Amino acid sequence: MLIKPTKMSHSRKKIVVLSGAGISAESGLGTFRDSGGLWEKYDISKVATIEAWHENPTLVLEFYDARRKQIIDAKPNIAHFSLVELEKQYDVTIVTQNIDDLHERSGSSTVLHLHGEILKSRSEATDAITYPISGDIKYGDLAPDGQQLRPHIVWFGEDVPKLTEAQEIIKKCDILIIVGTSLNVYPAAGLRFACPETAKKHLIDPNAVLLDDKSYTHWRGTASEQIPLLVKEFLSAPVS
Ligand code: OAD
Repeated sequence: MLIKPTKMSHSRKKIVVLSGAGISAESGLGTFRDSGGLWEKYDISKVATIEAWHENPTLVLEFYDARRKQIIDAKPNIAHFSLVELEKQYDVTIVTQNIDDLHERSGSSTVLHLHGEILKSRSEATDAITYPISGDIKYGDLAPDGQQLRPHIVWFGEDVPKLTEAQEIIKKCDILIIVGTSLNVYPAAGLRFACPETAKKHLIDPNAVLLDDKSYTHWRGTASEQIPLLVKEFLSAPVS
């Protein structure tokens, strides 16, 4: 009888990266809640809520037109690029609160946007169909269904359509990496509780986010300093 050697199956570990505005800060895109952040300059209730859209759509559109211009001019930074390197050895899903496309432009293959995408528009009536957009949206611009066009953004007061999909992905992860988010905005911030107890958890932020939670390995510093170090460590000694 010939006994065949059994092949060891080495399934790739699953990494989920939960990213926030901090990862794009070093690309020149301001965060929301740091000193000098966007929510110091703008009244969140006037530009980023569904009520604001109903009360003053022109102001809301102007706010997002300005964001779109800034984002188009920005470039991914070393933190975005380093995360792509992880795909050599791991299955990586980026779950981002960011509306920019810097993860995609750096080359990440799987990116789920919790709060929408500034480079897409949609009809006011439904988020089922989106349209690529690089210029401004004006009040009176209509979607093919005849309804007002709006940015494909999830505003405060609206459901987060990708939440369940994100939860399902995080439930199965082996490693969770949280980067550049103050974890102030729910339900996105609560996604961290969906990851298995056995998952290894890492948090990258220059400020004191979840520092008391010792279940995380804390990388104190900016994304562009710390992510390349983390990625180097993960690739040289794969996390078991
Ligand atoms: P915040 O502005 O609330 O938090 C940014 C986080 O990034 C903070 O914890 C900073 O310490 C950290 N940070 C700053 N610079 C960094 C750097 N260079 N490297 C790494 N981290 C850095 O932004 P978010 O948590 O992403 O939603 O905000 C969540 C949501 O609130 C956004 O998606 C947006 C906003 O209102 C909507 O508009 C619906």
